[in-house]
Amino acid sequence: MKILHVDASARIDGSNSRALSRHFVETLRSRAPALKVDRLDLATHPPRHFGALETAAVSMPEADHTPAMRDAIADSDAIVARVLAADALVIGTPIYNFGMPSTLKAFFDHVSRNGKTFVADETGMRGLLGDKKAVVLMAAGGAYGPGEMFDGLDALTPHIRAILNFLGVADVTAISAWPLMFAGAEAANAAMSAAVREAKALANAWTR
Ligand SMILES: Cc1cc2nc3c(=O)[nH]c(=O)nc-3n(C[C@H](O)[C@H](O)[C@H](O)COP(=O)(O)O)c2cc1C
Repeated sequence: MKILHVDASARIDGSNSRALSRHFVETLRSRAPALKVDRLDLATHPPRHFGALETAAVSMPEADHTPAMRDAIADSDAIVARVLAADALVIGTPIYNFGMPSTLKAFFDHVSRNGKTFVADETGMRGLLGDKKAVVLMAAGGAYGPGEMFDGLDALTPHIRAILNFLGVADVTAISAWPLMFAGAEAANAAMSAAVREAKALANAWTR
């Protein structure tokens, strides 16, 4: 199995989402020593934002690209190639402002490419990543359960699920550690322990 392991927290040290994704990958590796891991750290290697050149390039045939467009779209081509080469995506991410960090949004803007990762034409739309699965391991300061502080405000899980489903990835598991900030150390520790347990159980299931 080959995975693309993506981390989006701006924090390198002390990041809970990085700890979760690390537990997941380490459990996978312990069960499948031949596991290949392609590592993409969006904090140290943030993808460029889509600008005029990138948007022009993705909406015209490659044969018509100017040298400037080819240069602008090279990052996107490289990211798409890494996604296509993976059997599974492992994404560690925090919730920032109720959604995903801008680096992760930029990553998905690069990944969603008509003709490469999905097809949209007069016959309809279909994703091309149906052979892959994904796990999203997320950390958040507040609690999002029924009646809790941020009930109904989790815009991260449905957004990532929508993008991945659109690209054809139907098997998406979300594992959340929350609340990590506003409910005391005991609640934070319990939330992390429960999420680590879930992450390890899923990694075991992936290698069964
Ligand atoms: C810029 C920023 C925005 C944040 N916005 C939210 C938010 O909207 N909701 C929330 O529950 N926590 C929010 N948090 C708290 C983080 O989700 C929390 O600290 C989480 O543990 C960060 O992930 P990490 O530990 O992997 O760095 C925010 C933190 C930062 C730095």
